[in-house]
Amino acid sequence: MSPVAIAAGAPESGYTYGILAFLLVCLVAWIYRERTRAIRAERLLSATRRFALGDLTGGSGIRGPDELGVLADAVDQMAKQLRSVTGALRGRQEWFRMLLEHGSDVILTLDAQWQIGFAGPSLPHVLGWTPDQVARRPLAEFIHPNDAEAVQAALEGAVMRSAFGEPIAFRFRHSDGSWRSLEAVGNHPRDWPGPEHLIVTARDITPRERLESQLRQAQKMEALGRFAGGVAHDFNNLLTAIQGYASLLLFDLGPIDPRREDLEEIRKASERAAALTRQILAFSHRQVSEPEPVDLNLLIEDLERMIPRLIGEDVAVVTALDPGLGVVNADPRQLEQVIMNLVVNARDAMPEGGRLTIETANEAVAEDDPRASPDLPPGPYIVLTVGDTGTGIDPEIQANIFDPFFTTKEPGRGTGLGLSTVYGIVKQIGGHIEVDSELGRGADFRIYLPELPGARVERAARPAALPAPRGSETILLVEDEESVRVFANKALEKQGYTVLEARHGRDALMRLAEHAGPVHLVITDMVMPEMSGGELARRLAGERPEVPVLFMSGYSDGEIAHRGLGATSAYLQKPFTSDVLARKVREVLG
Ligand SMILES: Nc1ncnc2c1ncn2[C@@H]1O[C@H](COP(=O)(O)OP(=O)(O)OP(=O)(O)O)[C@@H](O)[C@H]1O
Ligand SMILES: [Mg+2]
Repeated sequence: MSPVAIAAGAPESGYTYGILAFLLVCLVAWIYRERTRAIRAERLLSATRRFALGDLTGGSGIRGPDELGVLADAVDQMAKQLRSVTGALRGRQEWFRMLLEHGSDVILTLDAQWQIGFAGPSLPHVLGWTPDQVARRPLAEFIHPNDAEAVQAALEGAVMRSAFGEPIAFRFRHSDGSWRSLEAVGNHPRDWPGPEHLIVTARDITPRERLESQLRQAQKMEALGRFAGGVAHDFNNLLTAIQGYASLLLFDLGPIDPRREDLEEIRKASERAAALTRQILAFSHRQVSEPEPVDLNLLIEDLERMIPRLIGEDVAVVTALDPGLGVVNADPRQLEQVIMNLVVNARDAMPEGGRLTIETANEAVAEDDPRASPDLPPGPYIVLTVGDTGTGIDPEIQANIFDPFFTTKEPGRGTGLGLSTVYGIVKQIGGHIEVDSELGRGADFRIYLPELPGARVERAARPAALPAPRGSETILLVEDEESVRVFANKALEKQGYTVLEARHGRDALMRLAEHAGPVHLVITDMVMPEMSGGELARRLAGERPEVPVLFMSGYSDGEIAHRGLGATSAYLQKPFTSDVLARKVREVLG
């Protein structure tokens, strides 16, 4: 039956159908609307969940004038706001991270049990550890045992006061096992939000400490050196006279004269005194060194004959000399002194006997070598090691052994000048010393001497002792110290020279002006009243450039004489004997 038929058949039922149809349409529309709403609500919900999980990209995608549309708009606004806030936060976080990472100070936090919590990113650069390696470990594990008590007290004090009063310095173990000196301050922020107790900011002061200790050492040596140099200078004048007169008398006495023996004793005693003065001058850097290319192996081979006599039978001597050893530029007498001082120390450390080792080797220190430092710049070195199997050196005193007058030997057994002399000489050569020792296990002294590249040394034949050479030239002798002047005059006249005497530079110039004949050589002291030897030499260089000058001195003014005073000048170290004087004069006169 068609609807038309119904409409035509029964008007009431047609009306009913109309209403039903209308209701059906409404129902469909309503269902459709509810579906769409549910889908939009679902989308909004999932967008909100996404935002909650931190993904703030994009919006909800819901629009519309209804409540859902308004709600979605509010959520989108919130997400946008959050986006800009987290962006700003991230930027700030990055900024703090850069700040921490590029700051050279180490930042640590400690909890109430003094365990490390946070460690700043600069930790690996400064102390070798990664933050993970130190986290949750007690601070005490890294602190030098001798500093532990002071650090503990400072930490407790810092909590009480809420800051370290003064920065505290202590040693912290680097991951490579070495100790680094740190200077640290700690803060205890009262309103700190975390479980941490203290925030510690620390700085590596190892290089500064090294420089400070070098400066202290240099100042100490300078003051002592000045004093010792002055004393040694006066001593050398006296010794020149004592040695000189003794040698003149010995020359006059017949070979079987009974007084010879007594005179020999005087001469020997004065030689020992001269050696001691040399020692003092060497440790105070005031010795005139006469560097020349030296093959350390040849020098040690020469000394080897003397060593057994020095050390006694119960010590075995082992030498290991590198056959391809390079050459050093140094004063051989000073190098002998270095070796002998180390050997004597080794002997003293082995009263029960043991083994003495003397080793030489070539070693190069590269740029990135962990040994390289301002004291040991990169380059080729000759390394001399003197080792023993003796008592070893207490770590507590290792820092002091190079100090002048530091000794652990009983009074009368040691002066404490041995190692400071070694130190002085090695520094003068531009070298470096390292000590490796353990109590009860002996000590190794390693000496690095810069190699003189490309040099070779031939073993020289020992010159036979010839009689002192004679001459007949005229010499002007300038010296303020009367005993030295009179002795030198006598010694020179004895060799056939004519001698003019002067007491200082001005006197010497007057003598020269008065003297009618030629003057072939001027021998002059350095430090004198009125006019010094240096000034005299400068005047002579202008007025009589053909006359050579021989300087004599009791200390390092010779260095000044060596520099800048031309090829016609030479140098003679006091004290000297008549024989040495005669040879030097002949050498200069040619
Ligand atoms: N090979 C070594 N073994 C153990 N200790 C050493 C060694 N060398 C040096 N020492 C210690 O260093 C100190 C200083 O040595 P140094 O040579 O300067 O003086 P000294 O030997 O005591 O006296 P001096 O050398 O002036 O006679 C010694 O007293 C000793 O304690
Ligand atoms: Mg010694």
